[in-house]
Amino acid sequence: MAAAMKAHPDPYIMSRNTLASGRLTAQHYLLLRRLGWLLHPHIAAQVQHCRSLEIADVACGNAIWALDLAREFPQANFTGIDISPQQFPPHFTLPRNVNLDVHDIFQPMPERYIARFDIVHCRLIMAAVYGQNKDWVMHNIIALLKPGGYIQWTDATIPLLQATGAPTRGRRPFREPPAITLQLTSLFGPTEWLRRLREELQRHGLVNLFDVDMPPVPWLSRQDTDNAIWALTDIHAGLKLKAPKEVSEKFGHALDETLDDIKQGRAYFTTYFTTIGQKAPVR
Ligand SMILES: C[S@@+](CC[C@H](N)C(=O)[O-])C[C@H]1O[C@@H](n2cnc3c(N)ncnc32)[C@H](O)[C@@H]1O
Repeated sequence: MAAAMKAHPDPYIMSRNTLASGRLTAQHYLLLRRLGWLLHPHIAAQVQHCRSLEIADVACGNAIWALDLAREFPQANFTGIDISPQQFPPHFTLPRNVNLDVHDIFQPMPERYIARFDIVHCRLIMAAVYGQNKDWVMHNIIALLKPGGYIQWTDATIPLLQATGAPTRGRRPFREPPAITLQLTSLFGPTEWLRRLREELQRHGLVNLFDVDMPPVPWLSRQDTDNAIWALTDIHAGLKLKAPKEVSEKFGHALDETLDDIKQGRAYFTTYFTTIGQKAPVR
């Protein structure tokens, strides 16, 4: 499946229109509710007294994370990097300490960005990396860090939807795992590396790594589900344009089944993971 998609000039399966940007904004605030902070308190404590800070937001989308954090760290310079400027806010609306730049994370980073950043943030690139070399992407992202610089990486993995609450409906039980899991697995291939980021980043030489607990917020289960369905609907629209018909049809059926389950009272939460780490300081 990944091979079928790679032939397309833009392998990114999701859209970058206003709706997609709105989905990212909602997801950002749902993630903020889960984590309780934009920047992990351990990193914030280490950098709060630095008079100048360089912070990168990799695959920044509409730059919502950088824009929000820029309010908390007015002394920092933020650089958002994305392969496409389509979701960037108009330049004149950006705070003076936020700049956005176009770059493909599968290409070597521009020289001016190598080892420049005190903090690198990376979030939700699962749908950007599938079918491509994850180690090359990690290498490029880590190259942005200064020695001693921190990384904060939040991502989703498959199974994307974990059912919560009542596992049955009447006489016919809900399918477990939901049909959509199989479709997502055949589309995105292995994504477990994103739930093992601590080990993966350690392999790339990072130190002081730890995973952050980010349990779902029980009273936002419906909103979390809505956001995931929004993403899945967008992926389905992308498949209709970029994948063979039978692939998009199978995905569409699985999505319909998921929507039907939700109508029957099923609730899900999305599986996210966050890992924090540091590039070894120079001795
Ligand atoms: C799901 S969005 C996440 C956006 C943002 N990180 C957030 O959490 O709100 C994925 C982003 O990755 C970007 N992207 C996809 N392929 C990329 C690449 N090769 N290089 C840089 N960015 C890429 C997309 O344009 C999109 O903005």
